[in-house]
Amino acid sequence: MTWHIVASLQELPPGESMRVTVDGEPVALFNLNGTVHATHNRCTHGKASLADGYVEGDCVECPLHEGVFHIPTGKALSGPVSVPLRIYPVRVDDGQISVDDAAVG
Ligand code: FES
Repeated sequence: MTWHIVASLQELPPGESMRVTVDGEPVALFNLNGTVHATHNRCTHGKASLADGYVEGDCVECPLHEGVFHIPTGKALSGPVSVPLRIYPVRVDDGQISVDDAAVG
């Protein structure tokens, strides 16, 4: 369980998402109304990058087959997805975003 500084908050304004790497794993960061969330970046249905998906409310729609995940919990909500996303603890200190490499779920 280790915190990794992955980006600055300036790089991820509200409504934006980005891909980072945490301990060799691709992770998607989402800024939902000022709160940063981290999920595994790869869709559980295929090889799509969820950082390139469409964010609506607190959900992301996969750009490949339109599966929808709830970002804060990783829950698979609709479309062809049924396996939840791994999510990661996030903290923001002095404008720096850190992600814990210990996935939750
Ligand atoms: S790859 Fe994401 S829904 Fe198919």
